Amino acid sequence: MSLEFKVKTLGGDLKRFVGLITDRERAIRKAPEKEINPTFAINENAKLLHPDYQKMIIADIIDHSGAESKTFVFKKADGSKAAYFRAGQYVSVLLKIGSSLVTRPYSICSSPNEALEGIVKITVRDVKDGFAAPYMLENFKIGDTVYISGPEGTFYYEPLRDAENVVAIAGGSGITPFLSMANAIKDGTEDFDLTILFGSRTVDNILFKKELDEIASECSKVKVVHVLSNEKKKGFENGFINAELIKKYAPEGKYSIFICGPEAMYRFAQKEIEKLDIEPKFVRRELLGVTKDVSSLPGYPEQAVGKVFEIKVIIGENEYSVQGKAEETILTAIERAGIPAPSRCRSGECGWCRSKLVSGTAYIPAENDSGRRFTDKEFNYIHPCASFPTSDIIIEVPGSFMQ
Ligand code: FES
Repeated sequence: MSLEFKVKTLGGDLKRFVGLITDRERAIRKAPEKEINPTFAINENAKLLHPDYQKMIIADIIDHSGAESKTFVFKKADGSKAAYFRAGQYVSVLLKIGSSLVTRPYSICSSPNEALEGIVKITVRDVKDGFAAPYMLENFKIGDTVYISGPEGTFYYEPLRDAENVVAIAGGSGITPFLSMANAIKDGTEDFDLTILFGSRTVDNILFKKELDEIASECSKVKVVHVLSNEKKKGFENGFINAELIKKYAPEGKYSIFICGPEAMYRFAQKEIEKLDIEPKFVRRELLGVTKDVSSLPGYPEQAVGKVFEIKVIIGENEYSVQGKAEETILTAIERAGIPAPSRCRSGECGWCRSKLVSGTAYIPAENDSGRRFTDKEFNYIHPCASFPTSDIIIEVPGSFMQ
């Protein structure tokens, strides 16, 4: 019985299937003879959200002289919308400094809503012995053309992962992603409670003080606590952002901690956070960058200290030979030679610089190695932005579309 039933069912299905083919042939014959649209709306939207780069004009420059910083207001050169982003993300700025081609990631400090008017703002702070920041601060003028990447990074609020309350720990120009979040909360783009603990040296040194205090007075979901390390003043906390201070201002119940600031602040804050009983998934940090003192890290090969190595770079058909210091990343050596190599985060996280280490050895700090896939480790693919040469090497680097 059951066999007969199946045969009958199959027979009916076959009949319907054959009918479908006939119907389809009839529909094709009836269709007008015109070219099919070569692009799909979904691809066009993906390009708007994730452009390879954005051509911008510097529309304005805001000087924060007390904080040794400037905010650059970029506007899309063709007047269109800028790529939409999540508050907390960054863009990579492409620079030609002398014969070097370099990129630098900067958190966006404006609200995502401003991207709809074609505007993206970044704030650059002067860095002692810096390379790109002093160049930008001295040379960028209103009307200049600047190329920036699309928005990148995962340092934004994600309700599926983060607690409803966020305690932000910021130091210096590390306030920028939190200013973007605070603006986004105020204008309704984001919905979470944000308590910002902001460390500065003195009152005069506080970046975006007026803007932050204004947002906090207008929006009950944003609180700002200023912490001064070099000055005691009524109405301000004094010292460093430690476990005690976090406990004092953290809300009841669960909260996420987001950290953005210089390396020294990050390392201090990380130890303090370990004293608190917080699930690891609730502790988030912005790009760490790479340490300036790689030889002090565990496992660094002593024999490499102070040496200069030969780096052979293969890009497609081209081969280059450059000198690389043991204490600088392979990417830095390549860029200094003016060779176009792709990069965005410069922290070993995004994968844009992923390259094949054909021969030789490199030291990769464990703290910068979480973005590398298991198979990449197995087959010797590295991120030159977070790898230091420890011998002469040969490396195959993908070409960059931005140069
Ligand atoms: S630039 Fe992001 S991993 Fe190297």
